[in-house]
Amino acid sequence: MKRRVFLAAVPALAAARPPVRATRLSTSYPGTQFYDQQEQNEVLGALESRSLFRWYGPGTPKKVARFEQELARFMGVKHALAVTSGTAALHCALTALGVGPGDEVILPAWAWYSCYNAILLTGALPVFGEVDESFALDAADVEKKITPRTKAIMVLHLAGCPADMDRLMAVARQHNVRVLEDSAQSVGGQYKGKRLGSIGDIGIYSFQISKTITAGEGGAVVTNDPLLFERAARFHDLGILRPGHQEALGKAGMPFFLGTNYRMNEMTGAVMGAQLRKLETILGAFRRNSRYVKERIRDLPGLRLRSSPDPDGEIGVTLYLLFPSREQRDRFVAGMRAENVPASPPSGSLVLPAAPYIEQKVAPHPEWPSFRSERGRAIRYGAGCCPRTEEIFSRAAGVHIGPKYSEGDLTDIVEAIRKVHG
Ligand SMILES: Cc1ncc(COP(=O)(O)O)c(C=O)c1O
Repeated sequence: MKRRVFLAAVPALAAARPPVRATRLSTSYPGTQFYDQQEQNEVLGALESRSLFRWYGPGTPKKVARFEQELARFMGVKHALAVTSGTAALHCALTALGVGPGDEVILPAWAWYSCYNAILLTGALPVFGEVDESFALDAADVEKKITPRTKAIMVLHLAGCPADMDRLMAVARQHNVRVLEDSAQSVGGQYKGKRLGSIGDIGIYSFQISKTITAGEGGAVVTNDPLLFERAARFHDLGILRPGHQEALGKAGMPFFLGTNYRMNEMTGAVMGAQLRKLETILGAFRRNSRYVKERIRDLPGLRLRSSPDPDGEIGVTLYLLFPSREQRDRFVAGMRAENVPASPPSGSLVLPAAPYIEQKVAPHPEWPSFRSERGRAIRYGAGCCPRTEEIFSRAAGVHIGPKYSEGDLTDIVEAIRKVHG
């Protein structure tokens, strides 16, 4: 059946059989669903101290510093740096790794604007790699794209699922390339028992409103390497290493360093402290709910789920299904929507090389170093740059899983998938 014909038929099909749900299942922002007295108390405490700047004030600010210590402990790393956003965290992490003009950084073609933008902001050249059916970088393709100028690989753990870190780390180590883990969309997820973000040389998180834990905005950098931490900390704060971070390091290793201002404020630190203490609970709820649905659809003939290098480490924020074609994917999405159960083509991420400003290699200035090298001039982005990624992206549909869905909501999701997939 042609796509147009089918889509026209969807309302008729829905009318023939009543939808699984009478009203649409909501998909609101997970971390915010856990806001309670704890966030309120933390925020009030920060306000009462009248010291919303993290380093000093009329009182004794300590929310951000405490959040950093707790985050480092939770993620199993030596150092954590709180910053203003995941994008800022990427910029700090790349700068800490020494990425700059003349360097290349490999990132997955299926990612978020910030990933490409942060590489460009350092003056380095972004090089896109293909993803596999886990939606993360394919190590074999990364290997093909490594050149003598490749300084780092930016690995993304997309929508709650870990990338294949063993293979990616092996390729990186073999070629003496650093690894930055972007775990913005998978805060708290794991790979073989280790927290995402703690496995590569340096990792980042986002606490923007769509993320697992949130203060509306916010981000963090984590690492076990004191030199990388010092560079990131200095870069986020005008090149200075403040006493709070000096203490954490033991000793400072470098003189003045260039920097900007990506400091987290105490209000954000207050909310994030309370949210972090609930992260295990939020992860448990997501995992329980996604497992509930998965177990009840496993037997569907022809069902194909996104692959995973470590299903136990996944968070399960979105249940992704793969279809043989874009048409079948679109039919599934339309069918699920008719059942009032939210499903969509991949959202919150996109195949980046096809974005017009990327395809046209728009930089902040005509002399921007990224595209001035021979490779930078020759490189072509745009549609067709990573055909396998485009193809996988076009066949994927995500079913939203909420951490606070009731058993009734979950059985509706199961029923809708079984009805529509069938
Ligand atoms: C994979 C990825 N990296 C980085 C970011 C940037 O985070 P932020 O919005 O906090 O700047 C996002 C945000 O959605 C993201 O999805």
